[in-house]
Order: sequence, then C-alpha cells, then structure tokens
Amino acid sequence: MPNIFSTNQFTKAEVEQILSRAFSIEKKCAKEACEQLLKDKIIACIFFEPSTRTRLSFEAAALRLGASVISAENAETSSSSYKGETIEDTARILCSYADAIVMRHHKEGVAEAAMKVSTKPIINAGDGANQHPSQGLLDLYTIQKENGRLENLKIAFVGDLLHSRTLHSLMPLLLLYPGNTFYFISPKELALPEEYARELTEKKITFKELQSLEEVLPEADVLYMTRVQKERFKNIADYEKVKDSFLLKAEHLKNMKKNAIIMHPLPRVNEIDPAIDADSRAAYFRQAQNGLYVRMALLLYAFKL
Ligand code: NCD
Repeated sequence: MPNIFSTNQFTKAEVEQILSRAFSIEKKCAKEACEQLLKDKIIACIFFEPSTRTRLSFEAAALRLGASVISAENAETSSSSYKGETIEDTARILCSYADAIVMRHHKEGVAEAAMKVSTKPIINAGDGANQHPSQGLLDLYTIQKENGRLENLKIAFVGDLLHSRTLHSLMPLLLLYPGNTFYFISPKELALPEEYARELTEKKITFKELQSLEEVLPEADVLYMTRVQKERFKNIADYEKVKDSFLLKAEHLKNMKKNAIIMHPLPRVNEIDPAIDADSRAAYFRQAQNGLYVRMALLLYAFKL
C-alpha cells in the first residue's frame, strides 16, 4: 500500500517522479485544466495538532482532483480520541468511510501505528518532531524551482533544529543529491539531533554547526528559517530562554547573495521581519503555494495514479 510516512521511504527515482508530476500539475492548474483523477474518492483529514497550510492545502488538493473531503480538525478534543480511543481504532473506522487518510498527531510514530491496521493509504501530515514528508517534498520542489538545481548548493538551516520535523524530512531528500554543503545555526539547546550529525559525518558530507546567523549569510544559496517549536517544550521557561534566538531583518539582505532564497515552512512567529517580504529572495509564500501542487502529486501517488 502506498502509505506516505517518512521521506526516508522514497528512492531518488520516486522523488523525481513526484516532483515532475507536481511540475506538470502546476502547469495544468495555471490553465485551469486539472484532471478530475480522484472523482468518486473520499479523503479523510484528521488533525490532532493545529494546522493552516497542511490541512487546507491537502483538502484543496483533493478537491481540485475531484475528490470529496471529510475532515476532523482539533481532533484531540473533538474526536473520540478525547474519550480514550486508540489511534488504531480511529484508523480502522476512518478507512471504512474514506479511500485515504491524511493524519497529523503530536506523538511520533502515530502514522506508522495507523498504517499497521489501515486498509487504505495513510499520509503522515506531521508526527511530533519526527517527520512531515509532504513538507519535505514541497521544500525540495521549491529549491528545484527557485535555484534551478538540487546539487552543489550551500544550504543553511536556522532555529529549532532539534524539533523541526520539516528539517528532519527535508534532509534525507537533499542527501539524495551530491555536492551540497550544510550549515546548522541554532542555540546549543536546539542543535541538530545527534543521529543526523552522525549520518552526515559517516557519509562524508561537508557541514558546520554554528551559533551565529551573520556568518552564513554571504555563503548561503538557501537560507531555511524555522520557528522555535513552543509546543514541544516540557517547561515554558526553557522555551522563553531560546524563543527569539534568530530574527532575519532587512539589513541582513545586503550581505546575502543576489540569487539566494529565503525559505520558512511557516507559521513565522518572530524569525523573519515582514519588511523582507517584498524582496524577490523571500520565497516562503511561493513555497506555501507549491504545497498545493506537491500534495496533489502525493495524493495521486497514494492512489498509484
Ligand atoms: C510546520 C509544522 O507543522 O511542522 N508547519 C507546516 O506544516 N507548514 C512548521 C511549524 O509549525 O513551525
């Protein structure tokens, strides 16, 4: 069953197939010629954590492909999970109503637990700090579209690298392409999880872990900002200590390459000054729009279409 639970599951050929599908969908959508390939299908979206882009772009993607959508937002309190139902039982029920299930949860591994009992494809829309595969793929799509390549790039990740599931999903995809150099900029409390650093060392990939944003600005082809993930902290005082660690301001732009891009999975809280939005290098709203095309491609992947 074509479940989508982690970007680690994809071969390079599959990734390229999904990206090229998304490119052709984007072209067709511009001419308002989306094919109704999911006519008669029902997509269930169940979100146990807040979402604006992921849920609504998955729903828009399904609708644009002709599917119908049933949706449970705030599922933590509005679904039977509140009464103590297990994720396995919830998945069993949803797959008896719908043809595919898009699911977000605060707990790592939930999509994989659901997959074990589901008779319909499960798409992980974020499981705790672990994975967010559709975001990883739309980020890769954005880099390809904006930079024109996925290799020999200098890519800087800034912020909460410990908890960022978007980074954790994008990294395995970028490692499919040669010649990339990585910079990881974070407060030491939010540094890249050790297993990622270990993997990079083993693969002899060039990377640096830094604590200053200014140093990487002249180098970066891609500057990927992330939000400090407040909801992952056990203790609010620990969050307060690191919450405003990095803010990209208009004055930083002059130190960046002319053709660099600035990305952010959004929502931004205090990482990018809105004064930057009008600069052509600010790619984050285009990145969010790309989510629609990539999620359309992923729904087709889930139905083997
Ligand atoms: C991200 C997420 O949920 O992990 N948001 C998103 O899906 N675009 C990033 C975040 O919440 O900071």
